[in-house]
Amino acid sequence: MDRDAAGVKVTSVLSHAWGGMIRASTDLVSEQQKNAATAGAQDEAEAPQAQDLVEAEKMATLGRLLAGIAHEINTPLGAVRSNNDMLDKAIEKFEAMVESGGEISDRKLRRLLSTIHNLTETNATALDRITRIVTGLKRYAHRNLEKQNVDLRDVLEMTLTLVHHELKYRIEVHQHVSADLPRISGYPSQLSQVLTNLLVNAAQAIQGKGRIDISMAARDADDGSGREVVITVSDDGPGIPDDVMQRIFEAGFTTKPEGVGSGLGLAISMEILQRHGGRMEVESEPGKGATFRVILPAL
Ligand SMILES: Nc1ncnc2c1ncn2[C@@H]1O[C@H](COP(=O)(O)OP(=O)(O)OP(=O)(O)O)[C@@H](O)[C@H]1O
Ligand SMILES: [Mg+2]
Repeated sequence: MDRDAAGVKVTSVLSHAWGGMIRASTDLVSEQQKNAATAGAQDEAEAPQAQDLVEAEKMATLGRLLAGIAHEINTPLGAVRSNNDMLDKAIEKFEAMVESGGEISDRKLRRLLSTIHNLTETNATALDRITRIVTGLKRYAHRNLEKQNVDLRDVLEMTLTLVHHELKYRIEVHQHVSADLPRISGYPSQLSQVLTNLLVNAAQAIQGKGRIDISMAARDADDGSGREVVITVSDDGPGIPDDVMQRIFEAGFTTKPEGVGSGLGLAISMEILQRHGGRMEVESEPGKGATFRVILPAL
């Protein structure tokens, strides 16, 4: 760790020892996986093990978010259900008017049609919301076998949909996304895994109300290798004390109670970013929040 001129602590982690992750005691990893991976840490057999661990963490994260996601689906679902009951009533009213054989005034008919139209419109919005959540779930759970040409804006949108329940009411999210953001080559669900962890970490660090700023922009890489995309996630939480900062990328290191965090998020994120030829940096001044920066080579 070094200190820049402004006195802000800067930790830049460029590489991560995979062995450290394997040694972490976690119930996500079976003894068998651990032994095989430790034994083969240096050989070719390492890759599938690493892949499995990344997938296991992804699904564990999804498991923790699931109750909130179910709640997010239930709200629009409830709206559709109650609107459907009201549509039924409107149709019954219309039937009664027709069956009465009398004249139906234009005014009455228009009012009825307008009620029906409003209900179907609200339903369409609610169904869109459900579709977005389910699509996000499918894309997050999908195991990408080959790298894709990825628009990080889509990855961010899907991630925000999945973590919405953890943030809403309590945390203001501000997005600053550059209009001409280049695409990158990668695995969308794994990139979402990285963003999910950063957003959940920020939300869990913020006590009470707070703010998260997310920015995505491109710049020239310092080493002249071309363009790179920088994703920044900043929070106004309590920040990261020195002793914690030294260990945040260590697999299994957590300051959270059991059941809340397993301490794998940042370690797995490092592994994912390495696969993408990227890296992560963090800055924090205790009391003034934390800023995580993900850097990925642009296409
Ligand atoms: N934005 C943040 N503000 C303050 N502390 C943070 C922040 N992000 C991470 N940390 C610290 O880093 C630790 C490690 O984070 P990491 O994401 O690896 O694991 P975790 O969040 O504890 O558990 P998991 O990600 O498995 O749910 C956290 O326990 C926390 O102490
Ligand atoms: Mg975490």
